Amino acid sequence: MVEQQRLTREPRKILITGGAGFIGSNFVHHWCDRYPGDRVVVLDALTYAGNRKNLAGLEGRANLRFVQGDICDRPLIDALLQEEAIDVVAHFAAESHVDRSILGPDAFVRTNVIGTFTLLEAFRQYWNASDQPAHYRFHHVSTDEVYGSLGADDPAFSETTPYAPNSPYSASKAGSDHLVRAYHHTYGLPTLVTNCSNNYGPYHFPEKLIPLMCINILMGKPLPVYGDGQNVRDWLYVGDHCSALDAVIHRGRPGEMYNIGGNNEVKNIDLVNKLCDLMEELAPELPVRPCHQLITFVKDRPGHDRRYAINATKLKTEIGWTPAETVESGLRKTVQWYLSNQDWWQPLLSPEYQAYYKQVYTSV
Ligand code: NAD
Ligand code: TYD
Repeated sequence: MVEQQRLTREPRKILITGGAGFIGSNFVHHWCDRYPGDRVVVLDALTYAGNRKNLAGLEGRANLRFVQGDICDRPLIDALLQEEAIDVVAHFAAESHVDRSILGPDAFVRTNVIGTFTLLEAFRQYWNASDQPAHYRFHHVSTDEVYGSLGADDPAFSETTPYAPNSPYSASKAGSDHLVRAYHHTYGLPTLVTNCSNNYGPYHFPEKLIPLMCINILMGKPLPVYGDGQNVRDWLYVGDHCSALDAVIHRGRPGEMYNIGGNNEVKNIDLVNKLCDLMEELAPELPVRPCHQLITFVKDRPGHDRRYAINATKLKTEIGWTPAETVESGLRKTVQWYLSNQDWWQPLLSPEYQAYYKQVYTSV
């Protein structure tokens, strides 16, 4: 049964939304490297989080097209699906930062809910008008945060854990997941949903935990740890996420959801200490040594989820995927990347970024 539903490896036409963001751009690099014969269309609105430089090295490729546009723009989506004869949609575009969703939830509901709905409607109409080839897919990239928060001894999230989102970000992602599920159930649309744990790696926007700590260490600035620093996240190297998405697009069963995790549960304070150790080892010079003394406990995030943990057994047994990186190997690569790519992140510390920073870290 599963074999029958596998995609054959014909050259494909894939529409990647949010492909100039952190995970989306890593996925574009992954797909172009792995499947050079495929047509890749990237649709991205280039919000504060989108950056053409994330696609460096791919400029001038004949079968890559970049379109700056909004996933809420239905005529644009209709035109792209038809002009490009798209057979796979890989949907990453989203407002993705919990702290920003607390400051201003509107954009989260618009992009994550209305934007996903717009894509689904467009894809449904396009798919209905086609002869509904077996290899068409609508892959929705989601998060483990839809499941809510775990206590220290609770079992990890599985695909049957009830949704209990706690932030405007996770609630808007949960809404989009439910729409995708309903489009499969009601209309038979060949959808896939993956719910992944916290990613890290190259092209991660500087306001997220890991890049923020690396950059602040390099600048000798305080390292703001929310609350008591005992919150736990499961960290997955972004390259592993991309290989998992590739595996699910090719071998996942339409209508199913799959959890993706790194088997790397770490407390925030332990993660920050690991980053300090790595920076001390790898950075040629630092303004403050030992940089651990920069660690500063700050006011907690409102509604801060205590622990996320992923049970990825379904992905392992059904699809045969497991992560390649440990948190040690992945963090080392990541720190090295931020040290070697200062000209990527320096321009992102813009006045807008500084204003955001001031708003969130009033107590630092
Ligand atoms: P990101 O914020 O780095 O990138 C989002 C991209 O979407 C940006 O390039 C932005 O310009 C684009 N975008 C935003 N609104 C848009 C719109 N209306 N139309 C078109 N493009 C728009 O996010 P990310 O961390 O790369 O996350 C990608 C996806 O993965 C999201 O759906 C997120 O929920 C999910 N996810 C993220 C993580 C994580 O740890 N970062 C973990 C699990 C799942
Ligand atoms: P984040 O990267 O925002 O991911 P998420 O909240 O979606 O899991 O944050 C990861 C963890 O790090 C989260 O528990 C919040 C915490 N955190 C801090 O302690 N300090 C910070 O400055 C940031 C950005 C996050």
